[in-house]
Amino acid sequence: MLVDNLISLIGRTPIVKLSRLSPKGVNIFVKLEYLNPTGSHKDRIALYMVRDAINKGLLSPGGKLVEASSGNTAISVAWISSLLGFKPILVVNENVSPNKINAIKALGGEVVLTPYVPAEHPQSKYSVARRISEELGIPYLNQMGNEANVKAHYETTGPEIFEDLKGEIDYFVMGVGTCGTLAGVGTYLKDRLGNKVKVIGVAPKGSRVVHKGGGEGADYIEGLVSEYIPEIFSRYVNVIDSIVEVSYNDAVETLARIVKYEGILGGPSTGANLCASIRVGEELSLQGVKANIVTIAADSIFKYPQLIDHIVKYS
Ligand SMILES: Cc1ncc(COP(=O)(O)O)c(C=O)c1O
Repeated sequence: MLVDNLISLIGRTPIVKLSRLSPKGVNIFVKLEYLNPTGSHKDRIALYMVRDAINKGLLSPGGKLVEASSGNTAISVAWISSLLGFKPILVVNENVSPNKINAIKALGGEVVLTPYVPAEHPQSKYSVARRISEELGIPYLNQMGNEANVKAHYETTGPEIFEDLKGEIDYFVMGVGTCGTLAGVGTYLKDRLGNKVKVIGVAPKGSRVVHKGGGEGADYIEGLVSEYIPEIFSRYVNVIDSIVEVSYNDAVETLARIVKYEGILGGPSTGANLCASIRVGEELSLQGVKANIVTIAADSIFKYPQLIDHIVKYS
């Protein structure tokens, strides 16, 4: 396959059925978003948000932009910016996987590190990104609230899932980071299938999206939100049927089984998504209900070398 435009490789990722770990009578399908060009589903939203900023006249050739991210969006924004000729500033937490930070730098992104503190704190990545945007007069993409994030998944991820499974979808399960994937795919599937399809969010144990006013001391699963209620979550809360809480240990233990028995080399949020999907599937199976559950492998274990060392102990 000869390509002259890397951007054309975003999306159209394959979906695979768990062959060993699907509960009886239930099919669990995983969309392998780590096969996008920079290794995550965030390539889709980076393209949509940057295009939106260009169309709104906020971004012109050679211009600067800023974004706050737990790493994957920052990599995708740095990548799109290098292809389209923009200068990105990426604000990321200090506790993000060092590999991700180096990838952003290698792609030419300027990295600003911030402590992992609640969103409303003046040192949080969101506060710092907003301040940089105001001080330099440059666009802040703000994936947490940007409707282009939802649109990317409504127009691409959702239709791909629907077409590949011929509309035979009963549950869509996805971890909540910005909530863009859950909102975009969930809305698309409900528009096509109505309330027959259930949209299930996944959150780290103790996350504020489940425990109002909580978040402090919640488990940390990279890419999923603990300390903040994303604006998109609040806007699309009606699309979400329920939320499953998953501990970090359960996510990693599930990931170890998924790697070993299914050969799916997802990251920690893939472990959380599959832990929740298997739990939902087991309940249905106990009731004798047949169902198709779809979830996402947002990124791959190769972005977390320390995690590979960790899961070896389960093998
Ligand atoms: C690895 C990973 N998984 C899941 C998510 C959640 O996706 P979304 O932001 O669409 O809710 C993210 C978001 O940053 C992520 O990086």
